[in-house]
Amino acid sequence: MIGYGTVGRGVAGLLHKHADLYTARTGHRVELGRVLVRNVVKARAAAAEAGDAQARERFTDDPAVFAAAPADVVVEVAGGLDPVDGWVREALRAGRHVVTANKALLAARGPELFALAREHGASVAFEASCGGGIPCVTALTAGLMANRVTGLYGILNGTCNYILTEMTQRGKSYAQALLEAKEKGYAEADETLDVSGADAGQKLAVLASLAFGVNVGGDQVPCRGIDTLELMDVAFGAELGFDVKLIAAAERWPGHEHVGLSVAPCFVPRDQPLAQIHGSLNALAVDGDAVGPVLLVGAGAGQGPTASAVVGDLLNVVTGSYPAHFSRMRLTPDLHPPAQPVAEADLEGRWYVRLSAQDQPGVMAKITDAFGSRGISLSALLQHAPRAGESAVPVVVTTHRATRGDVQAAADTIAAMNVVTGSPVVMRVL
Ligand code: NAP
Ligand code: HSE
Repeated sequence: MIGYGTVGRGVAGLLHKHADLYTARTGHRVELGRVLVRNVVKARAAAAEAGDAQARERFTDDPAVFAAAPADVVVEVAGGLDPVDGWVREALRAGRHVVTANKALLAARGPELFALAREHGASVAFEASCGGGIPCVTALTAGLMANRVTGLYGILNGTCNYILTEMTQRGKSYAQALLEAKEKGYAEADETLDVSGADAGQKLAVLASLAFGVNVGGDQVPCRGIDTLELMDVAFGAELGFDVKLIAAAERWPGHEHVGLSVAPCFVPRDQPLAQIHGSLNALAVDGDAVGPVLLVGAGAGQGPTASAVVGDLLNVVTGSYPAHFSRMRLTPDLHPPAQPVAEADLEGRWYVRLSAQDQPGVMAKITDAFGSRGISLSALLQHAPRAGESAVPVVVTTHRATRGDVQAAADTIAAMNVVTGSPVVMRVL
C-alpha cells in the first residue's frame, strides 16, 4: 500500500478486523504487505497504536524497497500526481493490479494508466475515487449499464457539503466548519481542492466518462467553488425555498450530441431529494433512459466509508472478478473519444441573478426588459426595502429555462445601467 493516512489506516484496520470474513467470502487470504510512506516513525507509531503486530517492519520510505517487496495488488492511497504516478505505472508494468482512491490522478492521467494496465494484463480499480463509500462507479459500470444516461447530478465533495450544512443549519463560520472538516479527515491535504470545486470536478470527469462513454479530462469541467459564495445569496435562496449545494452536473439535453459539464454552488429547491443531503453525505442522482431517476446516497468522505470502497475493490480484484470486468468491458475512458463539452455559455438551466439597484421608479421595468428582450422568462422577483441611509437595494430574479450565456448577457446589460452598482451574481437553480 502507498500511503498510511486517513484512508490507509482505515484500509489496514478493515483488513485486520475482517480478515476471516474476507477469506470466507473470497476464498483468499488478503494480507497487507509493505507500506510506503514519507514519515516512517509517524506511521509506525500509528500502526502500533492500532495494534498492528508488524508495525516495525511494515513501513518504508524507500520506493525501491517498496517496489521489490512481494505483492499481487498495490493499493494507492497517498494522493496527488507525482511521484505517485510513477509508482503506479511501475506496479502496472510489473503486472500488479492497482486499487486507487486518487481522483486527481485519474482525472489528469486516468486514460494513460488504464491503457498501461491493459497492456500488462493488469487492472485499475477506483471505486473510492468518487463519492467516498457510495458504490457509484460500480453502479454506473454494472447495475445501470443497460441505460443510456441523460443526466448525472452529484453532491460529490463531503468537505463542502459539511461546511455548507454547518454554516446554514448551525450558524458556524466558514473557517470553523472548514477546520472541523479537516479534523474529521474529510478534506484533501490541500483543502483548496475541496472548496474551489476542483475535487468535485475531478470526480465528475471520472463519472461522466463512465456514464457517457467519452473521455472527459479534469480540466474540461468548469468549476466554481463554495469559496466564492456570498452569505447574502444563501439568505435570499432560503427566502425563495432553496438550499445551496455544490452540484456537479453532467447532462445531455435532448437534441444535443455533446455533454454539458459544470461544478458550481447551485440552489436546490427544498422539496428535491438532493436538498436533503447534509453533512459529509454525498449523493449521485442518475437519470437513465430505462430505469428513470436513481439516487445513491452515503458517506462521501472519511476513514471508514473510503476504506469500505477501497477494500471492496481489493476483494473484487483478488477473486479475479474485477480484472475480468476491466478487461472485457469497454467502459473506461482510454477506450473512448475525447469529450467535446458544451460551451459554458450554452449550459441550460434555470438561473438566479442578484443585482444591486437604485430604489427608483422604472428600475424594475428596465431589469425585466433586459431579460425579456433576450427571450428569458422570469419566474420570481424579490426586492426588499432599502436599509436606512442606503439608496441601493439587492434585487433578485429567478428565470425559467435559459442558457447561461443569455442570462449572463442580460445581467451584464443591466450591470452597465447607471441605476445598478457592482457585479451581478448568477447561480443555477437545479
Ligand atoms: P492523508 O491523510 O494526507 O494521507 C496520505 C498518506 O500518503 C500519508 O501516509 C503520507 O505519508 C502518504 N504520502 C503522501 N505523499 C507521499 C509521498 N510522496 N511518498 C510517500 N508517501 C506519501 O490523505 P487521505 O485523506 O488518506 O487521502 C489519500 C487519498 O485518498 C487521496 O488521493 C485522497 O484524495 C483520497 N480520498 C480521500 C478521502 C478522505 O475522506 N480522506 C476520500 C476519498 C478519497 P506521510 O504521512 O508520511 O506524509
Ligand atoms: N476531500 C474529499 C471530500 C474526500 O471532501 O469529498 C473524498 O473524496
